[in-house]
Amino acid sequence: MTLFVRVCGLGELEEDTPKRVELDGTPISVVRTEGEVFAINDICSHANVSLSEGEVDDCHIECWLHGSRFDLRSGKPDALPATRPVPVYPVKIEGDDVLVSLTQES
Ligand code: FES
Repeated sequence: MTLFVRVCGLGELEEDTPKRVELDGTPISVVRTEGEVFAINDICSHANVSLSEGEVDDCHIECWLHGSRFDLRSGKPDALPATRPVPVYPVKIEGDDVLVSLTQES
């Protein structure tokens, strides 16, 4: 069974402004963009930096350190230096609650 847990309120999310949350010790960047909400692991796959401090554009989040951009739908990087994907997680919206499951989507 997939367990969804509330991580924040929908009203706390500003468009294109990532919010860092923790779920069972896992840092997650929650992003509201283009009418959807995405959850991606907050640690860049290239080095140990927080993706939630980066910019969001065109359904991607950009690592502020070296500029790799990760697709919020798949976690895959579309530019070097990162070569490995970052885990992404299923999101459910229930009323004003944003729920995330640590089950990995890809
Ligand atoms: S630390 Fe993220 S691209 Fe290098």
